[in-house]
Formats: sequence, C-alpha cells, structure tokens
Amino acid sequence: MSSERERAMNDVQQKHIPATLPGPKAKALIERDARVVSPSYVRDYPFVVSHGKGAELWDVDGNRFVDFMSGIAVCSTGHAHPSVVAAIQKAAERFLHISCDYWHEGQVELAELMAKLDPVSGPAMTFFANSGTEAVEAALKLARHTSRRSRIIGFLGAFHGRTMGSLAVTASKYTQQRGFFPTIPGVVHVPYPNPYRPLFAGADQGQAVIAYIETLFERNLPPDEVAAILVEPIQGEGGYVVPPDGFLAGLRALCDKHGILLIFDEVQAGIGRTGKMFAWQHSGVRPDIITLAKGIGSGLPIGLCVGAKRVVEKWSPGSHANTFGGNPVCCAAALATLKLVEDGYMQNAERMGVRIMDRLKGMAQKYSAIGDIRGRGLMIGVEFVKDRATKAPAKEVATKLVNRAYHNGLLLLECGASGIRIIPPLMIEPGLVDEGMDLLERSLREALA
Ligand SMILES: Cc1ncc(COP(=O)(O)O)c(C=O)c1O
Repeated sequence: MSSERERAMNDVQQKHIPATLPGPKAKALIERDARVVSPSYVRDYPFVVSHGKGAELWDVDGNRFVDFMSGIAVCSTGHAHPSVVAAIQKAAERFLHISCDYWHEGQVELAELMAKLDPVSGPAMTFFANSGTEAVEAALKLARHTSRRSRIIGFLGAFHGRTMGSLAVTASKYTQQRGFFPTIPGVVHVPYPNPYRPLFAGADQGQAVIAYIETLFERNLPPDEVAAILVEPIQGEGGYVVPPDGFLAGLRALCDKHGILLIFDEVQAGIGRTGKMFAWQHSGVRPDIITLAKGIGSGLPIGLCVGAKRVVEKWSPGSHANTFGGNPVCCAAALATLKLVEDGYMQNAERMGVRIMDRLKGMAQKYSAIGDIRGRGLMIGVEFVKDRATKAPAKEVATKLVNRAYHNGLLLLECGASGIRIIPPLMIEPGLVDEGMDLLERSLREALA
C-alpha cells in the first residue's frame, strides 16, 4: 500500500457525521471546482471522495459511506481491488501506451477472451474504445458501413451516450438533447415495452411494440433501409425497465426477416451486473453486435464494441479507429476484472440481488409510495408513486430519498422518471447489503415524513 493511501486510511474515522455534511474539506474543494470545472455535470449531492475499499467509500472529511452506486455502475469489483490494482501496476510498469495501430498482448488476450465468452451470434471480433458512448458510436458506424443502409431504430427511454451518434438514439431526458440538434439523421424511436407503465392495449407489451415496428415498416420506414435496431436488454437510465419475456426474441425475428443488425447496448447491464456475464443471457437471444464499457474496467476507461466476425470483417482498414483504444493498462484492468467476475462475483451479484429484492418486497408492504420494484441481479430499480392506483410519478420522493441517504451514509442514484437504482459493486458482502438496506429504509422514512 502506498504511504499516501496509508495516511488516508489512518485518517479515517469510522463514524459518519450527518450534521456536518458536507464537511469543511469537501466544501472547500467544491468551491474550487465551481470556479474552474464545467457546470454541465449533474451533481446530485456534495460527495467528495478520498478513497474506497470494496463497497465502502470515505469522503475527504473522514465520513464513511456504503456504496450502492458504484460510480454509476462501474466499480464492479469494488474499490481498489488488490488484484485489479496489481494488474494495473504491472502493466503500467511495462508501457503506458502504444495506440491500436500496433499490437500488444493484453489487447489480443482481451479480444480472445471476448470471443470465448461468446457474446454475439457467431465467432466474435472486438473493436476497442474508451467509453460507453464510443463503443456505441463504433456499433452504429459498423452497422451503417457494413450494411450500406442508413436508418437506425432506437427506443424511447434509452440512454446510449452523449456524442452525436449515440445522442441521436438517446431518448431518456430531453435536457440531454436540448440545444444539440441536428445530431445524426435517420433515427426512428419506438416505445420500449414497460410492463409497469403499458403504452399499448393488451397484456403483452413486448409483442405490441414488435407489431408497432411492423406497422412502421408497412407505412413509412422501408425495412431494407434499416441498418440496425439498437436496444438495451434492460433499460438503464430510462428506469431499470426489464422488458417482457419474448420481446428480445421478437426483435431478433424482425431483424432476421429483414436483414437488420441487432445491437444490444450492455454498457450498463453487462459484465455480470445482472447475475450473468451478459444481460441477454436471461433471454437466450443473441445480438449481432454488443457494446460494453462501465463495469469491464473496474473504473479504468475502456469500452468495447464486439461484433459477429461475419460483420466486423467487412470493415476495411482506416474505416474506424482511435488513438487510445486498447490501452494496455485498461486492458490489464479488464482482464483482471473479468477473471473476478467469472470466478464468483457474477454469482454473488445474483445472490445479493435476491437478498435486496426480498428486503424491498418487505418494504413495499409498509410504504405505499413504492410503486414498483424490478431488475435482475444487482441492477435493481425502485419506482415511487403518489398513489398506487393512479401510478402518478413521485419524483420528489426519489430525490429526497437520495439526498437523505447521502446524509445517512449511503450513496444512491436516481433513475427514470421517479425512481432510484441500487447498483452496488458485484462483490458486496451480505453484512454491507443489510447495512445499506437499513440506511435506505431509514432514508425513505425521512423522505416520506
Ligand atoms: C446503456 C448505456 N449505454 C451507453 C452509455 C454511455 O456510456 P459513457 O458514459 O461511458 O459514454 C451509458 C452510460 O450511462 C449507458 O448506460
């Protein structure tokens, strides 16, 4: 352990002092930040991190927090996992960068591992990016370039990133779009099937959406102009919506019928978070292209666009590339992360997810503001309503709860129109799950008072 980290750890007081949050050191840093850092970031609460260990974090004033947000679903192996840190250190001592125009072992090893994990229909090839949005850009470009078609189908509520291509398909909040039009043309949005908030008549919202797309194909969207359908197998920012069984299979059938590429954006749901390596494995429906980022590097910036070889091999040299993709340190972090996820964290995510769900079901009997609980593994959403009969969204409850949780020593995030998400590191142990859920319940009581 470095002496700086040791000093930071020794500074830690195990207690949490809600009355003083944010503490003086946090306040001072936030003031400096406000003078020089872009105001475009969403800052939900004034948490100023000092360091972390596993599923716990400490702020610069020594307050301890249970982490139920993992740096927005990124820190899958927990904070500063020793084998991830060791892999990073070892790689960093050899070389820090070469660019993807050359070769190195970590990059090939990671692409081989991806092929072995079998994430797409047929043998897989990997393109390296540095973030989720870049992985999605790569997927969109791959689809357009290789199909020679231009239209893309996306979903209302989707989040795919904020660069111009991915932003064009993103449709979760209009603030993400306002002021940026025109993005890329050719994107058509259709509803995402939400069993809690059905838009269509009939019991099967998934099949209703498929029928809607078929109607579009008949009336104004020639299917032979559609390059790809881009979809999150579980919708993330849009509210942690799990689609009905059969929906992804319906999309797969549509794509097969019309020669359209099916892209699954698993930037948030992938790499063990739902209890399986890829979220699509819950349905058995394979995409042609999958995008991954967030949890794969345990916090280091890496994104992957993995496609079926029959598609990716059509890309010609120079058609897409970048400077930093396949960075050796990021590849080393990803390889160490994948090993931990495969060797047990994925299974832990499933177990701890059940534990949290059970607790939430108990809470739902006590608090009528809880309208819906959903998710898989450690990708759990809770939606709040003003009353259960009308399902009128109660955003104020979600906002207040997240704020009270911060003051009580629990880091949470909002999601969707009126919900929160529970996304701890995949390695979280039962004791911390229970502590976090106690804090969550206390915070909800305060938010409703
Ligand atoms: C499903 C999904 N795709 C893409 C992105 C964009 O990733 P990044 O913020 O790394 O660009 C996100 C980020 O939240 C996401 O949840």
